This record gives sequence, structure tokens and C-alpha cells, in this order.
Amino acid sequence: MNPDRALEVDLCGMRLDNPLVLASGVLGTTASTLAFVAAHGAGAVTTKSCSLEPRTGHPTPIVAPVVGGLLNAVGLSNPGARAMAGVIRAFRARSSTPVFASVFGRDPQEFAQVTAILAEAEPHLVELNVSCPNVASEYGTPFGADARATARVVEAVKARSGRIPVSVKLTIAAPSLREVARACREAGADAITAINTVGPGMAIEIRSRRPILSNREGGLSGPAILPLAVRAIWEVAEAVDLPIIGTGGVESAEDALQMILAGATAIGIGTAVWRRGIDVFGSVRDGLDRYLEERGGASLAALRGAAHG
Ligand SMILES: Cc1cc2nc3c(=O)[nH]c(=O)nc-3n(C[C@H](O)[C@H](O)[C@H](O)COP(=O)(O)O)c2cc1C
Repeated sequence: MNPDRALEVDLCGMRLDNPLVLASGVLGTTASTLAFVAAHGAGAVTTKSCSLEPRTGHPTPIVAPVVGGLLNAVGLSNPGARAMAGVIRAFRARSSTPVFASVFGRDPQEFAQVTAILAEAEPHLVELNVSCPNVASEYGTPFGADARATARVVEAVKARSGRIPVSVKLTIAAPSLREVARACREAGADAITAINTVGPGMAIEIRSRRPILSNREGGLSGPAILPLAVRAIWEVAEAVDLPIIGTGGVESAEDALQMILAGATAIGIGTAVWRRGIDVFGSVRDGLDRYLEERGGASLAALRGAAHG
């Protein structure tokens, strides 16, 4: 076995050097920060979710560290689709690491419009953020909570995405993840990302006696949500035969292995960059390498879904 290639995975026909993907929302708004993450060992990087027009997002404070993770209510700040296409082009000019474009919109048509603009920059995958919990007051219930609403977004996007694979980022707020996953597959989705942040939750500053976040509530991420993500991956893997980008609380190789054993092909890492620093990609990757080596060169593909028995 060539140890340099032991961690390679195939995701929707593309080769990733390793399964670790920078999750959307962390260091994902400029080509330099994306390149910084790629240079520190990510197998792929995802942009911040992008809308048709620029958004300023919520006023600070937008993040609050809590036990077991982070609450955030960034409010989907982003430079808009045209500028984000420029970011993707600039990143592609300096790095061969695959880049995923995260997209959101007010309705299926806007999702499709944003996708069409970003597709011109040729991202390796489009990820549909149908699941952000901290803009619900502005956008209503996330599309991802309803199978039919999600399917309509996927259908509209697939009509404009050409050959670029489309992953749908699910929320565990859906009454049935299995149903949403099946609806995504029937609408033509190529992959599933599971999960987005959970909640919303709230943290209160006891001296000022006020909620910490300006938005009062925010999505919970980090180690506290790992068991929820593992369960979500398990359910999606049982429902559909689509590659899964497992995301939520991963900080170690052991965490990533739980997701792979539940059925994930790739592993998103977001909050751990914030909590542990950029070297988290290297340490999780080395830990996965060691695990495979100790098992005489087992492959990640052989481990995928193995917990289902
Ligand atoms: C500060 C912050 C901003 C985020 N912004 C986005 C976003 O724009 N789009 C999205 O799909 N997910 C966003 N997420 C969710 C993450 O991509 C990820 O799904 C979630 O945080 C769980 O993974 P983690 O525990 O590894 O962070 C954000 C998360 C954090 C912490």
C-alpha cells in the first residue's frame, strides 16, 4: 500500500486526497483563507454560504463559546454570488484542492440563480444550505425541514448546475431525515451533507443579564452535536445510496471514524478549526492514517457503513 494514498476517497466521481472537508461558514469567504486551509491538509474546502446579493449578516456578538461547542448567529453574511464566483476562481488559480460552493436562496428559483452564477467559476460541487437555523425569523422554517420543499429546491438547482454534483445539507430539525433524504435522491441530488448546526440555542451573560448573541439565539455546533450527527448519518445511509459528507462536532480521528462507520464518505470540520486551530486537519488526518496502518492497511471504503452490520 502506498501510505500517501491510503486516505484518498472518491466523492461523486472526484478524488479527494483525504476525506476531510472544511465545512461551510468557517474561513470560507476569501481565496486566501480557503488556500490557507487547503495548505493545512483539508481534502476539500467549502465556501461560506452565498446568496444572490451581498448580505451583511447580524451585528456582533455573533458567536458565543458554550459547553461542548459554539453558538453562532452570523446571519449568513457573504459578498453575494458574483463576488463569490471571483473567490472560487481565485482559489482555483492557486490550489488544486477541490472547492465546494455553498448556496442559499429565498426560494427554489433563487437557489438556482445563485448556482448558475457560481457554476461559471466551476466549483467541484455545489452544496445547498437548506438548513440554517439562525435566520428563521427572516426566512421562515428552513426548506430542509420539509421533504417536498427540499425536493423543489434540488429540482430547480439541478436544472442549472450542469455536470457539477449537488449535495444537499440537511437539518436534524426535519421530522424524518429518511424522508428528506429520499426526496433529495428522487429530485436528483448527488450527495447529502449531514448536518448543519442544531437548535437554535441561547446563552445568557449573567452580569448584564442579557443574551450574549445580538440575535439572541444561534445554531449549536461542536462536540456537543457529534452524537446527533452520527445518528443522522446512520439514518441517511439506511435511506439512500448517496455519498454522505458527515459534519458536526468532529475534532479527532475517533470522531471521524464514528461517522465513516455510520456511512459517511467525507467528513466536514468547522467549529474544531475555531476551537483547536488549523492543525486539526493534520491531526485528524494523521490519526486516520495510524488507525488504518494498525489494521494492516484497511481502506476507508471498507470501513464505510461497517457499523450497520
Ligand atoms: C461560525 C459558523 C458559521 C457557519 N456558517 C454556515 C454557512 O454559512 N452555511 C452552512 O451551510 N453552514 C454553516 N455553518 C455550519 C457548519 O458548516 C457545520 O454544518 C456545523 O457547524 C456543524 O459542524 P462543526 O461542529 O464541525 O462546526 C456554520 C457554522 C459555524 C460555527
